[in-house]
Amino acid sequence: MPTDEVKKRLEELKKQHNAIILAHNYQSDEVQEVADYIGDSFGLSQIAAETDADVIIFCGVHFMAESAKILSPDKKVILPVLEAGCPMADMVDVEGLRQLKAQHPGVPVVTYVNSSAAVKAESDICCTSSNAVKVVESLDSDTIIFTPDQNLGSYIANKTNKKIILWEGYCITHHRVSPAEVRKVREAHPDALILVHPETRPEIVALADHADSTAGILRYVRESNHKKFIIGTEMGIMYRLKKENPDKEFYILTPKLVCVNMKKTRLAHVVQALETLSPEIHVDEDVRVKAKQALERMLAIKVN
Ligand code: 13P
Ligand code: SF4
Repeated sequence: MPTDEVKKRLEELKKQHNAIILAHNYQSDEVQEVADYIGDSFGLSQIAAETDADVIIFCGVHFMAESAKILSPDKKVILPVLEAGCPMADMVDVEGLRQLKAQHPGVPVVTYVNSSAAVKAESDICCTSSNAVKVVESLDSDTIIFTPDQNLGSYIANKTNKKIILWEGYCITHHRVSPAEVRKVREAHPDALILVHPETRPEIVALADHADSTAGILRYVRESNHKKFIIGTEMGIMYRLKKENPDKEFYILTPKLVCVNMKKTRLAHVVQALETLSPEIHVDEDVRVKAKQALERMLAIKVN
């Protein structure tokens, strides 16, 4: 965990560069500990769109920092470890999406923010797991193309009457949770509620008590009278769950719930990023303008 000396150094550097540190809920404890804001993809993109800071140090994966740059092109957006990507985002490309669109002319495309800027630019509107159902419901069409997460897409399909055409991407971390693991953990802790991310498979969501985004899971636990929870999302979320709810008990659904890309960023990388203001994220201007439209349409839809 960060020493007082490291914390002091980070404060000096942030002041010097008018910088803020954003961290996703899946970052390691030591990174969350020094962040100015911790949140889900939706919350962090809102902050990126609204901040007065000149520099955003984005502790997360590539598509998140890219979204911040799309929304705030005049700011320097730094991703401390450039190789921190999202395998699900890499499962959809522009060429493939164009082919799918050609097969379904006029059908709007909703793209999960876990995607490249180029794919967002090819889409009508973005969504996160916080607002996916609302985004789909907001569109004046009975049929929707949804990319890239088949599991979030199936989750939406269960909550709406619209026909969802799925892209067959998935999160390598959440997709590997098995029904047998859910049954086993239920048996071990029969008095606990099972909360999962909608990136898990539909059969996992069906076995769980509640499915939500990372911010939604944090809110659900905060507002619940229950005392025990089994958490079916990346285990970095345990840091805030335990810190914010010291009177409650948490168990991870399976130790497989680790996103190696989220864990690439260490405290030393954050310090280095603030010292060198690199590696910086850049997005081609014509792609950025189109991707921004898809993100801003999403941000205009009220959640909760
Ligand atoms: P949230 O939008 O819930 O923060 O999730 C992002 C993500 O990458 C889930 O794997
Ligand atoms: Fe991507 Fe899954 Fe990691 Fe989220 S948890 S960043 S979807 S690989």
